[in-house]
Amino acid sequence: MCPLRFPEAIPTLRDEAITLRSLGDEDIAPWYARATDAESADLAGDPIPASIAAGAAWLQRHRDLFERKAGIRWAIVPHGETTSVGTVGLLLDAVNEPGAELGVVVARARWRQAIGTAAVRMALRYGLYDIGLHVVRAQALQRNPASLRLLEKCGFRVARVAPPCAAEPDVMIHFEITATSTRS
Ligand SMILES: CC(C)(COP(=O)(O)OP(=O)(O)OC[C@H]1O[C@@H](n2cnc3c(N)ncnc32)[C@H](O)[C@@H]1OP(=O)(O)O)[C@@H](O)C(=O)NCCC(=O)NCCS
Repeated sequence: MCPLRFPEAIPTLRDEAITLRSLGDEDIAPWYARATDAESADLAGDPIPASIAAGAAWLQRHRDLFERKAGIRWAIVPHGETTSVGTVGLLLDAVNEPGAELGVVVARARWRQAIGTAAVRMALRYGLYDIGLHVVRAQALQRNPASLRLLEKCGFRVARVAPPCAAEPDVMIHFEITATSTRS
């Protein structure tokens, strides 16, 4: 198994529309606005924070994950702006093959502007080719068409469809993309 090339510092990544940069204190207020959007939180499966005070713990959690080489979360900042409009990240698998779980959230006011697609593509490229992950997984509720379409556009394939269960009362679609599949 090839060793992973986990970075010493969170890299700044750019394409023609957005920058992905490390999270900072300035991202807590926009995070809180997104995290308290009930529909968005429900679709992403995230708990709604009680107050903005939870933002410090949110930021520290991501910093700790990076320190432990267990995950990278970037702030998404459109060119010409300074405030982040979402986040995208990779949470590395703790065991077995070198893989990670992808997560992405974009603020409602910026939905359908191709920001999520651009952010996921950059995070994926970084994970698969720079870090050397073999596989990146993602999951989306069947009732989340934006997420399903985004993942499909970025090259993910359906790996498994999980029927409703006690822990998750909605159908969940499990996706994956491998370094080999993106080269073919
Ligand atoms: C999912 C999410 C990140 C998409 O971000 P976005 O920046 O709006 O995505 P994009 O603009 O890049 O759109 C991606 C594709 O989805 C489509 N799409 C976006 N919203 C849609 C909707 N409500 N219904 C159907 N398709 C939708 C877009 O049209 C685009 O497809 P196209 O290029 O074929 O037209 C965003 O909706 C979000 O943050 N949702 C709440 C949290 C969440 O669900 N996170 C994902 C958990 S896996």
